[in-house]
Amino acid sequence: MSIPPIQPFLWGTATASYQIEGAVCEDGRAPSIWDTFSHTPHKIERSETGDIACDHYHRHIEDIELMRHLGVQAYRFSISWSRILPTGKGKENAPGFDFYNRLVDDLLAAGITPFVTLFHWDLPQTLQDQGGFASRDISGWFSDYAVKTTERLGDRVANWIMLNEPSVFAFLGHATGVHAPGIADLKTFFATTHHLNLAQGAALQALRSNNASWKLGTTLNIHRGVAADGSEDSTRMAERHNDLWNASFLEPLLSGTYPARILPEVEPYIRAGDLKLIRQPIDFLGVNHYFRAYIQAKPDALIGYEQVAPPPPLPRTSFEWEINPGEFRDLLLELRERYQCPPIYITENGAYFDDVLSEDGKVHDANRIAFLDGYIKAMQEARERGVDIRGYFVWSLLDNFEWASGYRPTFGLVKVDFNTQRRIPKDSYYWYRDLIRQQCA
Ligand code: FCB
Repeated sequence: MSIPPIQPFLWGTATASYQIEGAVCEDGRAPSIWDTFSHTPHKIERSETGDIACDHYHRHIEDIELMRHLGVQAYRFSISWSRILPTGKGKENAPGFDFYNRLVDDLLAAGITPFVTLFHWDLPQTLQDQGGFASRDISGWFSDYAVKTTERLGDRVANWIMLNEPSVFAFLGHATGVHAPGIADLKTFFATTHHLNLAQGAALQALRSNNASWKLGTTLNIHRGVAADGSEDSTRMAERHNDLWNASFLEPLLSGTYPARILPEVEPYIRAGDLKLIRQPIDFLGVNHYFRAYIQAKPDALIGYEQVAPPPPLPRTSFEWEINPGEFRDLLLELRERYQCPPIYITENGAYFDDVLSEDGKVHDANRIAFLDGYIKAMQEARERGVDIRGYFVWSLLDNFEWASGYRPTFGLVKVDFNTQRRIPKDSYYWYRDLIRQQCA
């Protein structure tokens, strides 16, 4: 069954600065927490780093060509904060801005609308040294950076995404410690959760007053947790997971409150006026979705539980992530039911499968095509049932540095040979190109 045309709608792909740019020491860029973390022994599989990554900093023209041939109307990328403000605040680094100026100009020349994420986890190391997101000061640091960036690029960029997946950044970076900055401390985790919301609110407010025509939003990773076993403890922990992962970011932004069950843990960090500042109107909500989380109580874990692999026989990606398009449709429907939800963009969805380069020099990734087909159809069902979805971005354009897992997990529509930097479009690239053509005919 083919996917009937959805109009008006933006089809796109997404990437993030540290995962693709490389050139980490060039043109005045200073280290981010991901440079520090990836150069710390035993943090990343096979000790890989983003030092070179996809070398996109030097190859953005080729990558835009790939997108032009793909036919996408939009591209979501993020800014490396320490490339444009090496110390995180104060003095600007002109060559850093030059890169993003060129990128934006070249995208527009190719007819591709930029969606720019201001923070996709690569905090300048100097700011981490001053407390990072555990400090309330991050609110001012982030909004100043947001103002400077939008002042420089906002004459050509209309769509601004404040944060990428604050829950993942808070959780993996500050509770389990498997991502930068590698902290595992409950108080820091709750402080970070609140300060992410606060920084986002301050930036939204500042940008809104600077230019009312910008489209401002943020991107949340939404996945629902279910108990992995029938126990009462795991059921309670699945609720806790939904509070911590989803509701701690959705509710302050859209309803002006924290979920009641976790309020006592965040309360020590809330000051008068914070909740009002956090509840800023947004023009769109970015939703990233990958899987449903299976939660098992684990009393000795910092947050009281752990996420475990889905039970058999559910199909999974090579990351052991459950493949379940119906769950995607249902959570989109639930978002509409529960919240006064602004228009939604699916700012990330995609899959890691172990790709094989065939003897014919191609990558026949039928599994990725089936995944995307299923999820896009599910999104369309949600749309037909009244969820206002305006666009869909495949994660990712290119195979890239997948954080603590290094280069092993391949999510791209385009394979990257990391020895030669050769780009090889996979079958899924041509499938997506044809889908876009048919949609836009
Ligand atoms: C998301 C991240 C993105 C990428 C995908 C696979 O959580 O936003 O950078 O790692 O997962």
